[in-house]
Amino acid sequence: MKHLLKLSDLSSEEILSVLNLADQLKYELKHGISHKRLEGKTLGMIFTKASTRTRVSFEVGMYQLGGSALFLSGNDLQIGRGEPIQDTARVLSRYLDGIMIRTFKQSDVEGLAKYGSIPVINGLTDYCHPCQVLADLMTVREYKGSFKNLKLCFIGDGNNMANSLIAGCVKTGMKISVASPSGFKPDEKLVKWGEESGLLTVTSDPFKAAENADVIYTDVWASMGQESEAEERKKAFKNYQVNDDIMSVAKKDAMVLHCLPAHRGEEITEKVFEKHASEIFDEAENRLHAQKAVLVKLLS
Ligand code: CP
Ligand code: NVA
Repeated sequence: MKHLLKLSDLSSEEILSVLNLADQLKYELKHGISHKRLEGKTLGMIFTKASTRTRVSFEVGMYQLGGSALFLSGNDLQIGRGEPIQDTARVLSRYLDGIMIRTFKQSDVEGLAKYGSIPVINGLTDYCHPCQVLADLMTVREYKGSFKNLKLCFIGDGNNMANSLIAGCVKTGMKISVASPSGFKPDEKLVKWGEESGLLTVTSDPFKAAENADVIYTDVWASMGQESEAEERKKAFKNYQVNDDIMSVAKKDAMVLHCLPAHRGEEITEKVFEKHASEIFDEAENRLHAQKAVLVKLLS
């Protein structure tokens, strides 16, 4: 594993190995066992979109591993004034040990990896959010013991989260059902690949998708960059809310996950959110542990 650009690049073994290391690092942190495995290393963190979890968990993660992290706002870097990604990649490779980038275009993340000579980690693009799904998988395994015979159901926009969940579930052998309205389906190529594995079903019916699910997952209806479509999207997604009716067709012990930030009253009701808050905030915490595992794999 040289980069983390998208989950489908990783083998099942590589994903499991990251998750095992994440469990170990979480254990070490909780038991006060020092794990400064990245002493002297510096991670650059480029953000051209907002972030709470990704920024803080990467920065704290590097600190706990004995290294340091630099926050680089896209607006302040010369890329904001048109410096090509090829040049940015080659310059940053001379100073840093790794780059984490959150931006719009997947091709910019792939470009950094192609032209630079240091590991690149995708901290979210319009296409995918691999770091989030590593934390999600870690949380599912913590609660359910393994991935065997599990079904995850994603309800909502076929966005970056849906795409990465498809990749993550198929790679770990979990069944995944995605319910989204027409015109908002996940990436076509990924859907074809997922359906061929026999693990993915895509439907427009959220109740059919949620039937007997072990995990119900949702995300905002309007992602970062889609703010101007928010009203139109509220209409398109009004029947795609995770509420008591949806939960009643899932398994009795189904867990609920949300990558956050959440919009209560839109993609999820306040009641379902608060009932499952311990799972959702464990999931948020696991961003730290899962990303530390990625950092150790790529930078040490
Ligand atoms: N889930 C997630 O990536 O959160 P942030 O946007 O706060 O980083
Ligand atoms: N789909 C959301 C995920 C946020 C973590 C977005 O891209 O804004």
